[in-house]
Amino acid sequence: MDLTPRVFSGMQPTGSLHLGNYLGAMLQWIEMQKTHECIYCVVDMHAITLWQEPSELVSATRQVTAAYIAAGLDPKKSILFNQSQVPEHAELAWVFNCVARLGWLNRMTQFKDKAGKDREAASVGLYAYPNLMAADILAYRATHVPVGDDQKQHLELARDIAQKFNNDFKPQIEAAGFADGVFFPQPEPVITGPATRVMSLRDGTKKMSKSDPSDLSRINLTDDADSIAKKIQKAKTDPDGIPSDAGGLAGRPEAENLVGIYAALAGKSRDAVLAEFGGSQFSGFKKALAELAVDRLQPLGDEIRRLTSSPTEIDAVLADGSARAHAIAKPVMNKVKDIVGFLRS
Ligand code: TRP
Repeated sequence: MDLTPRVFSGMQPTGSLHLGNYLGAMLQWIEMQKTHECIYCVVDMHAITLWQEPSELVSATRQVTAAYIAAGLDPKKSILFNQSQVPEHAELAWVFNCVARLGWLNRMTQFKDKAGKDREAASVGLYAYPNLMAADILAYRATHVPVGDDQKQHLELARDIAQKFNNDFKPQIEAAGFADGVFFPQPEPVITGPATRVMSLRDGTKKMSKSDPSDLSRINLTDDADSIAKKIQKAKTDPDGIPSDAGGLAGRPEAENLVGIYAALAGKSRDAVLAEFGGSQFSGFKKALAELAVDRLQPLGDEIRRLTSSPTEIDAVLADGSARAHAIAKPVMNKVKDIVGFLRS
C-alpha cells in the first residue's frame, strides 16, 4: 500500500455553480489532471449538514457533475463521483469523530458562521463537518488538496487528525506493515491563488457566492448571453477608469476584480490586460469583458444543459466513478479496521 501523490477535492451540490467556482477552483482541478491522479467528489453528505430539499439535492448533484464534465474534468482520466455512493466516507468519519477533540472543532470558524446565533439548533453534522472532510481526503490517503482560502482551517484539522491517528495507533500501524509508523499522510493544501479569487460583482470585498441574495452579484455557469452581459454592465465600479499598471488597482476592489476576471478568462496576466486596456473607461472595458465572458461561458452552459436534460450519461459517470473510488477506499478502510481493532470477516 504505497503512498502515491494523489489529489482529492470536492464541492457541495447546493445552489448553482458560478464563475467563482469555475475560475477559482475548477480551472486548477483541470490543470492538476495533467500531472496527478485526481479524485473529484460531489459532497452530497456535506450538503445535508444544512437542510436540503431532497428533489433539489438530486438535481444539484447532477448539475455539479455536469459542470465538472463540461468544464473539462475528464471522467476517463479522473474519478468523478458523489460522496454518498462510497460508504467508506461515513465509516472513516465515525472513526475520526473519535480521534478529533471537541476543543479542535470548537475553533472552527466556518461552524460559527454557518450555525449563526442559535447554535443549539445547528445539526450535529454541521459540527462534525470537518471530520467528514478529513475522511473524504484520507480514505484515499490523498496528498494534495486544492481548496479555497476559506477551507484552510479545515485542512489543518485534517492534518491534525491524520497525525493523532498515526500517534494513537503507532504500534498497530507498525504491526500492520508500515515500518515508519505513517499510515495517513499529511495532506497538503494547494491554496487557490488570490489571482483567481473572484469577488461579488456588487461588492468587491465579498467573495462571489451562491448564497448571496442578489443574483446580480454572480455569473452562474448556466446564465444565458443576455444575463451575462447585463450583469457585467451593472457590475459596481468606481469613478476612475482602467489604470495602466497594477499599482493603480490598489484600494479599488471592484476594478481589481473585473480586471482579474478578464485576465483569468483570457488566460493572460493582469499586467497584460492592463497594458491593453489602461486608460479606457469602464464602459468600453465592460463591453470587451462581456464579449469574452459570453464567448467562454456559453459553450459551457450549453454543455451543462445538454447533460442535465437527460441524466443517463451523468448517472453513469457517477456510478463508474463511485465504483473506482470504492476500489481505492475499501482496502484503506479495511486497514483502518485492523489498526483500530474492529473484527471483520
Ligand atoms: N468543505 C469544502 C467546501 O465547502 C468541500 C469539501 C468537502 C472538500 N470535502 C472536501 C474540499 C475534501 C476538499 C477536500 O468547499
